[in-house]
Amino acid sequence: MKVFLCPVEAIPEGGTKTATFFEREVIALKVEGKLKVYLNICPHLGGSLRREGHKLICQSHNSEFDCRNGQCLGGPAHPQSRLLYIPTFVEGGLLTFSVDIDNPQGDLFAQVLPLLIRQNDDVQ
Ligand code: FES
Repeated sequence: MKVFLCPVEAIPEGGTKTATFFEREVIALKVEGKLKVYLNICPHLGGSLRREGHKLICQSHNSEFDCRNGQCLGGPAHPQSRLLYIPTFVEGGLLTFSVDIDNPQGDLFAQVLPLLIRQNDDVQ
């Protein structure tokens, strides 16, 4: 299954573009020439994020995260927490996510989330 998030050209330099991902919101950005996509949910208490330079700042309680890897830099979020990275690629100019789901019914996000967490753990 492929999910098209947004046109790559819609992601502004130095800014962000939000997109829908299995009925949740993700935040896409360009960092040092690379595309990064994170679930737009702060690991502290679920606030949404805004970008300031190379940081993503939680709009609820101001935890800060590194745009390059989602790692917490400070604030009330746990210092070892980080944003959930969504692996994507570009296809036909569209930011794309691809996953194999055995049973594409019900809450697809609930099926995809464990895969994402496992992939994120592998990166650490
Ligand atoms: S919800 Fe993000 S710092 Fe509290």
